[in-house]
Amino acid sequence: MEIDKSLIQNLINEAFAAAGNAYCKYSGYHVGAALLTVNGKIFKGCNIENSSYGATNCAERTAIFKAVSEGERDFEAIAIVGFIDGKEPDSYAYPCGICRQVMSEFCDRDFEIIVAKSVNDYKLYTLNELLPESFGADNMI
Ligand code: THU
Repeated sequence: MEIDKSLIQNLINEAFAAAGNAYCKYSGYHVGAALLTVNGKIFKGCNIENSSYGATNCAERTAIFKAVSEGERDFEAIAIVGFIDGKEPDSYAYPCGICRQVMSEFCDRDFEIIVAKSVNDYKLYTLNELLPESFGADNMI
């Protein structure tokens, strides 16, 4: 089901608010994500970097882990924004491969991924489009 434009724009605004909390002292690249549950709740997440770079957590996974740890597992959509410190977004922030795999653990193939530069400039994908032919629990039965 495609979500309506005002909800998409609300999610994008929430993603920008989340990006404001990004802890990105090494890359200077702020990422914010706003995850919508099927019950209409929104969980926000930002990237949280670490001096041992590999311990960095992406914004999308922050949002998903926050939600799952609060007992939510049914998700409808996520909006993602990314921009360099002090600049306006000039490209769409696509989720990295690890985040796509984490999405596929909890989300249906038609889970909607919104990548945005602003509330009026965004693109919509399904998880299936961004992670086709994925590995999952079904492979192990
Ligand atoms: N980052 C995210 O938060 N999400 C992604 O999907 C890609 C990358 C963050 C991690 C790191 O803090 C910064 O962007 C640069 O890689």
